[in-house]
Amino acid sequence: MNVTLGSRTEPFRTVTFDAANNSVRLIEQRLLPHEFKIIGTKDFRETARAITDMIVRGAGAIGATAAYGLAQGVRAFRGGDLQKFSAHVESVYQTLAAARPTAVDPLNAMNDVRREMARGETVAEQQALALAAAEEFANEDARHCAEIGQHGAKLIRNGMKVLTHCNAGWLAFVDVGSATAPLYAAQAQGKKFHVFCDETRPRSQGATLTAWELAQQKISHQIIADNAAGHLMQRGEIDLVIVGSDRTLGRTGEVANKIGTYTKAVLAARHKIPFYVAIPLSTIDWNLKRGFDIPIEERHESEVLGAWGVIDHSKLKIKNSKPNQRAYVRVANPTSGARNPGFDVTPAELITGIITPVGIFKPKELWKQRHQLGGLVQ
Ligand code: MRU
Repeated sequence: MNVTLGSRTEPFRTVTFDAANNSVRLIEQRLLPHEFKIIGTKDFRETARAITDMIVRGAGAIGATAAYGLAQGVRAFRGGDLQKFSAHVESVYQTLAAARPTAVDPLNAMNDVRREMARGETVAEQQALALAAAEEFANEDARHCAEIGQHGAKLIRNGMKVLTHCNAGWLAFVDVGSATAPLYAAQAQGKKFHVFCDETRPRSQGATLTAWELAQQKISHQIIADNAAGHLMQRGEIDLVIVGSDRTLGRTGEVANKIGTYTKAVLAARHKIPFYVAIPLSTIDWNLKRGFDIPIEERHESEVLGAWGVIDHSKLKIKNSKPNQRAYVRVANPTSGARNPGFDVTPAELITGIITPVGIFKPKELWKQRHQLGGLVQ
């Protein structure tokens, strides 16, 4: 998507690969919306840390990062011994797979890369195939998101007010985004609509990332506190909800997404507001049999007990602080602890439809349509 910085507008992808330096290049998302910076990782361990520390986040974006990270690790191997090479590949895979547990895209992406690598007979051939497969995963992610946009734009009518949760925008993918794709496509068709971005505590991806993206794209929007959605729904101020997903079960239609999604789905059902989930095919888990078994990431309590932001110099005078200087402020009672589950699971019956690159389906139809949806069941 295009990013405008000062007077310059340039297209960017969230994740790319610098083959000459064997480095994964990422937008440093923790600095947004205050600073736009690209960083490069020096090896696959640093790439895994960038996923864990959420320099890069969002299902498709960490999928592409894991695919590139695997290629990066594989390309760093020296020598021609296939047995040693295969042990090395396994250890790179495991390191990247452990970086964040809930999204299935990193596993699907790395499995694609390994499947392609198996066609090579030498270390050098497998190294070349790994990078080509990672590039293909990234390109497919961008293609899938654009296709989601074409299907999802049909749901958006002039004058609508649309609610979204967290950031399932282009920053959460390689480009375009999943939940935002219908918005961008509808805008390109000339439709006028308004978006409410849930703030999405504790890390505030809605207030920081989705709002930044929509502002960049000149889409009318406002940030709301997470608790405000029910009130707006009750007053008829929300017509449609579109969210993303970190893992959607192909067998049951259950959707794991950022914590707070389930609450919004319950509210939407209560107010008979259509609730859609937008996903590329890499977000489908065809193996797990029940949502209860999805590993739910528990993050550090400091995310709940306080917040990161930049110092507002109109409110606070701090000597020697730079413009846009980041700071963590403790909000909660100093002697209290916190629980911090990162995701929740929304049952199929609360979901109106799943917007995929090949069309919109009822959640329970996914399994029946698995051949069309690229389902590979292990
Ligand atoms: O913890 P994050 O920021 O990596 O969470 C991912 C998300 O932004 C959301 O859950 C999103 O809706 C799905 S990712 C496309």
